[in-house]
Amino acid sequence: MIADVVVGLQFGDEGKGKVTHQLVRNGNYTHVVRFNGGCNAGHTIYHEGKKFVTHHIPAGVFYGIKSVIGPGCVVNPKQLFKEIKELESNGIEVHSLLKIAANAHVITDFHVAEDKKDVDIGTTKTGNGPAYRDKYARKGVMAVELPEFDDFIIDMYSEFHENPDFDQIEVLCEGAQGFGLDIDWGEYPFVTSSHCTTAGVVANGIPHTAIRDVWGVAKVYETYVGAKDFEDPDPVFAQIREVGAEFGATTGRPRQVSWMSMDLLRRSIKINGANKVVFNKADILDEVGTWCVYDGMDAQNFDSADEMESWVITELSDPDVIVFSRSKDEI
Ligand code: IMP
Ligand code: MG
Repeated sequence: MIADVVVGLQFGDEGKGKVTHQLVRNGNYTHVVRFNGGCNAGHTIYHEGKKFVTHHIPAGVFYGIKSVIGPGCVVNPKQLFKEIKELESNGIEVHSLLKIAANAHVITDFHVAEDKKDVDIGTTKTGNGPAYRDKYARKGVMAVELPEFDDFIIDMYSEFHENPDFDQIEVLCEGAQGFGLDIDWGEYPFVTSSHCTTAGVVANGIPHTAIRDVWGVAKVYETYVGAKDFEDPDPVFAQIREVGAEFGATTGRPRQVSWMSMDLLRRSIKINGANKVVFNKADILDEVGTWCVYDGMDAQNFDSADEMESWVITELSDPDVIVFSRSKDEI
């Protein structure tokens, strides 16, 4: 069994959807597994010239690959069925490909109502936090308990470890959110409630020995949506927000913008064990014409994208592959 992993190195919205979509297109995966989060996530995918935003459904469905909502996830049945309908009305077959781990948890109407009361964190109000709270308080509802999920339920152990073709299994593990929002590594309490790092993959029944590549996905500038102060008062950030269309895929909220933090990247690359790193949206800074990163207390300014790119590549010596991407649908 082989598993590749896609994780966010910043605060979500790094373009993981794009990277996943391309890996699925070019790879030989038998499964795509979402390993954390719920419909707080919004993965934007350009497929055959059309824009799709998925919340629950893994990107495997775009290429006819079995797509699993793993045990580390929480699922809102209403949102899920809405999404299935949306994709299927656009000609993407979902029903026969979608699987839900028996031990994933359910986001109930009560969880959504609870989350709507949040004022402190700036959550997506999708019931994510309360669903995980109840899971860990051991009063949650498991996916296997919902009759409407009957068609989709699988057990991760039988799916992988009792499979006679175990050696042929290739899984792409699709992460949601990112390192800066991780429950353990993000800036608590301004975090989400799940494990967004490679650690989360292993908790989904995928053995660590199967992991081959960890693709860390970053953006050449940072964005964050939530209650903490993130954006410095510099008009360039408003410009990046407009040019980069930095508005939430799930909530439509404007994302706060900042320069990319090298300290955050160093930490998230190490802790995720990322050996391949993709920097998205380099085209946006080209259009804005300003290139800068934060390194400790310093702001490093560059005269061109190439200059920034080679500096970043020298600073981050760990990954074997570092790619700067200037396209919406290609790495
Ligand atoms: P929650 O996950 O809805 O509880 O929100 C907690 C924090 O994570 C808030 O700051 C959200 O804006 C942020 N967040 C959750 N999911 C995403 C995502 O997919 N992209 C970006 N930010 C997210
Ligand atoms: Mg997103």
